Amino acid sequence: MIVLGIESSCDETAAALLEDGIVILSSVVASQVPVHQEFGGVVPELASREHVDNICFVVEQCLNQADLDWKQIDAIAVTRGPGLMGALLVGMAYAKGLAYALKIPFVGVNHLEGHMASILLDHPQAEFPALALVVSGGHTSLFYLQEAGNYQEISKTRDDAAGEALDKLAKYLGLGYPGGPIIDRLAPQGNPKAIAFAIPQTRANALDFSFSGIKSAALRHMQQNHIEAVENPEEVPERILDLLASYQSSIVDQLLNRLKKALKIHEVRSVQISGGVSCNNELRRRSRELFARPGLVVYYPRPQLTTDNAAMIAAAAASRLQQRAADSFGLTADPNLKLN
Ligand code: KG4
Ligand code: ZN
Repeated sequence: MIVLGIESSCDETAAALLEDGIVILSSVVASQVPVHQEFGGVVPELASREHVDNICFVVEQCLNQADLDWKQIDAIAVTRGPGLMGALLVGMAYAKGLAYALKIPFVGVNHLEGHMASILLDHPQAEFPALALVVSGGHTSLFYLQEAGNYQEISKTRDDAAGEALDKLAKYLGLGYPGGPIIDRLAPQGNPKAIAFAIPQTRANALDFSFSGIKSAALRHMQQNHIEAVENPEEVPERILDLLASYQSSIVDQLLNRLKKALKIHEVRSVQISGGVSCNNELRRRSRELFARPGLVVYYPRPQLTTDNAAMIAAAAASRLQQRAADSFGLTADPNLKLN
């Protein structure tokens, strides 16, 4: 079975062709980074317009790369939410139109389910029950999965997502966008113990996340120490490197702290960390050191599948489509779509 995946929930227009739920025949991602770069974050209206401009080309390129014909597509999987409404609508309208024209089924997919499925593309035998952390620019949520596909959200961020906090500090410091990969690259040159950022306590649910406090603390640190945006992102002074190292390290501290607490409550056989921030080197290294042991495996997606892509969307829909499930054309995009 060949599934066309489509993803347009935020600032990447992506399409992928996936065979039998596991083999990526092609995967194309049109990034909008250059469009949003000058604003230091995603501008929703610009994102929608870019998706409209890119989607036909991205899908055609995907077919060309896989050397396939329209008629060889068996089904379509498309991100239905959560995400930016205007952006989601472009993918949904395209997917429905194409499914109608080709007379094939289409299914709507939750974006977070897609991120979690990105791990299964390389590790189809990943053990369950599992704890799954989705950590990206728009989301920081922790799920307990009794088995594959059975999601129970046990906590999420109260305010910003971890990736958003990384992107914001990089923006204040004039380092570029998106900030996560830039901080990942620069942090090893600084001292992670230079500035002490506290791990927030989230009272109602101790497993919830919060990143707005550390973002404000970093801003305060910049003001108090008269730190301004860099003039040349290639020449970053030592005290900014120290700030970046301390900031990244405290964000990783919080993610690991919540996972550690959750592992005390839930007996699981694997920890699965996905989403854009799961590419982060410090997070990968420290989580493996802390959690990997006999009986507990720590999984990540391959780096190219950590940020938004459509292979993960097709993968998340594969088992439903193999059971011949299909959504009706009445299905609508939902910017606040919940999972479970
Ligand atoms: O999964 P994604 O593409 O979009 C959302 O679903 O939100 O994640 C994008 C986020 C951005 O905030 C970006 O800064 C962050 O992932 N990111 C990273 C790294 N690569 C991307 N954060 C830390 N380290 C990285 N290497
Ligand atoms: Zn995402």
